[in-house]
Amino acid sequence: MNSERIKVLAKEISENDTVLDVGCDHGYLSIYLKQNNLCKEVYASDVSENALNVARNNFKKYNLDIKTYVSDGFKDVPVYFDTAVIAGMGTSTILKILDNEKTPNKLVLASNNDYYKLRKKINEIGYKIVDEQAIYENNHYYIILLCIKQKQKLTKKELKYGISNNEDYYKYLLNKNKDLIKKVPLKKKIKLLYECLILKGLIEKK
Ligand SMILES: C[S@@+](CC[C@H](N)C(=O)[O-])C[C@H]1O[C@@H](n2cnc3c(N)ncnc32)[C@H](O)[C@@H]1O
Repeated sequence: MNSERIKVLAKEISENDTVLDVGCDHGYLSIYLKQNNLCKEVYASDVSENALNVARNNFKKYNLDIKTYVSDGFKDVPVYFDTAVIAGMGTSTILKILDNEKTPNKLVLASNNDYYKLRKKINEIGYKIVDEQAIYENNHYYIILLCIKQKQKLTKKELKYGISNNEDYYKYLLNKNKDLIKKVPLKKKIKLLYECLILKGLIEKK
């Protein structure tokens, strides 16, 4: 249950935060936060009643009092929260959830695709990415973003590769590009070679 990813999500939470765990599914993050007293309050929500029932059973099993809400994003959450964790979803779902007038001051986001688009939109809707973690688990890198409501304009390079400064992550991207280069047509090859140069630059800077 306590995967590295859940622990890193939890590390981005502070003791004064009132957290909404959006799309909580099994509720593992909410359980981890509550059991370890890592925030002021945690609420759990999911668009799926079935998923929420799994979470509710888990909360009961661990004897935890965590309020739950069936809700598409923030829409039907009637309680105050200043922090939302939106993890384990695609960028387009995360952005749809954030297209709401009631957005909190702090976001912890973990998309499973299209990080460039996510970082770009996050800046455009008035959030600053203050921390980024790249976590390797189950043969995959998970990107976790901590954002607060503040102005920021990341460079194109930062939008594309993030601000994690994680050398292993950059090496992973470089190797992925090298594999791809063998399989794509010339025009795409040139683009990928250019990206490899940028990634090498980021690695050398470390
Ligand atoms: C893969 S699980 C991720 C669970 C957990 N957040 C995590 O990171 O381990 C995705 C969950 O998001 C829920 N979900 C998808 N779209 C949603 C939305 N618009 N609002 C709330 N929950 C949503 C799904 O029902 C599912 O339970």
